[in-house]
Amino acid sequence: MSSSRQTVKDTALVAGGAGFLGSHLCEALLASGHRVLCVDNFLTGSEDNIAALIHHPRFRMIKRDICAPFDPGEAIDRVYNLACAASPPHYQNDPVHTMRTCVVGTLNLLELAERHGARFLQASTSEVYGDPEMHPQTESYTGHVNCTGPRACYDEGKRAAEAMCFDFLRAGRADVRVARIFNTYGPRMHPKDGRIVSNLVVQALSGNPLTIYGDGSQTRSFCYVSDLIDGLMRLMNVADSPGAPVNLGNPSEFTVQELADLVLRMTNSRSPLVFKALPVDDPKRRRPDIARANRLLGWEPRVALPDGLLATIRHFEAFVARSAKAKQPAHAMPAEAYMGIQKE
Ligand SMILES: NC(=O)c1ccc[n+]([C@@H]2O[C@H](COP(=O)([O-])OP(=O)(O)OC[C@H]3O[C@@H](n4cnc5c(N)ncnc54)[C@H](O)[C@@H]3O)[C@@H](O)[C@H]2O)c1
Repeated sequence: MSSSRQTVKDTALVAGGAGFLGSHLCEALLASGHRVLCVDNFLTGSEDNIAALIHHPRFRMIKRDICAPFDPGEAIDRVYNLACAASPPHYQNDPVHTMRTCVVGTLNLLELAERHGARFLQASTSEVYGDPEMHPQTESYTGHVNCTGPRACYDEGKRAAEAMCFDFLRAGRADVRVARIFNTYGPRMHPKDGRIVSNLVVQALSGNPLTIYGDGSQTRSFCYVSDLIDGLMRLMNVADSPGAPVNLGNPSEFTVQELADLVLRMTNSRSPLVFKALPVDDPKRRRPDIARANRLLGWEPRVALPDGLLATIRHFEAFVARSAKAKQPAHAMPAEAYMGIQKE
């Protein structure tokens, strides 16, 4: 099923290529000799993210929404589907569009891959496990997801997308790989989208109180972006599809309180912590079991949290300085931006 044109100069289409992860993936693919077609509707991505790539001779930007079928009019060997708003305030802003992106958009890209005989990689998520009753989460765990809550447009959308991916694979219609991505952070995260690392770093650098949802005892694992991109590319490059999803994330587990303390120390910030109500269906524990990725891809994360945080802090320092110059507030997304949050 895999393409017969597996040379270093293969053409990769990256849907969601102007986003946080997508822009790092485009950069890594160009560096490894690929031609890159970046497809994005700029819903949550930005031109800034791809500014350094736009004049590259092997880079082409195609501005469009994956919910409508399209063909780029040139041969494609690989399709990476990263298109989807990934943070709760963004994906809950227009939940029906989020579900449409996951289901109709993924179907359009699977059919595109089928027409081109291209390999297909789906960026799925640890959210398919919901609020897990199993810890750490292995790929065989089928999840604990609320299909009627405010996170369902994303969680259930991604689950439906996985189902379609494996139907295409079983039917021999496309050579599909599915990565279940756990919390990933790094430069170019959206500064105001309410994700925990960007929230805390921007608040600390701006001298604002650090917002903790819940009592801070819930745990997360944080994977640095370069490790994650390496995992995605290995999964795409492996000769045979694993035929099953593969967890990609960093298994080191931290409480939210520990992360906040580390951010305060590393930014020399004296900001206080403020505790707010947990968003509805917020998972209490998250940690990937990465044995499968290790066995199949020889992959494991290499960047320790303090090192990754340092690079992330450097990135946001520039953002906070620009905001101060423009006299715009650099504060993060307010709690009320989470639909379904229990107001105190
Ligand atoms: N960052 C993480 O921690 C994480 C964790 C799990 C899964 N993921 C998955 O990885 C992918 C990328 O996440 P990210 O963190 O880079 O998010 P992001 O919001 O920065 O990037 C998503 C990109 O997709 C684009 N997009 C959204 N809907 C689209 C549509 N209908 N048509 C075309 N483009 C569209 C956005 O404009 C944006 O550029 C997402 O699919 C997300 O579900 C990310």
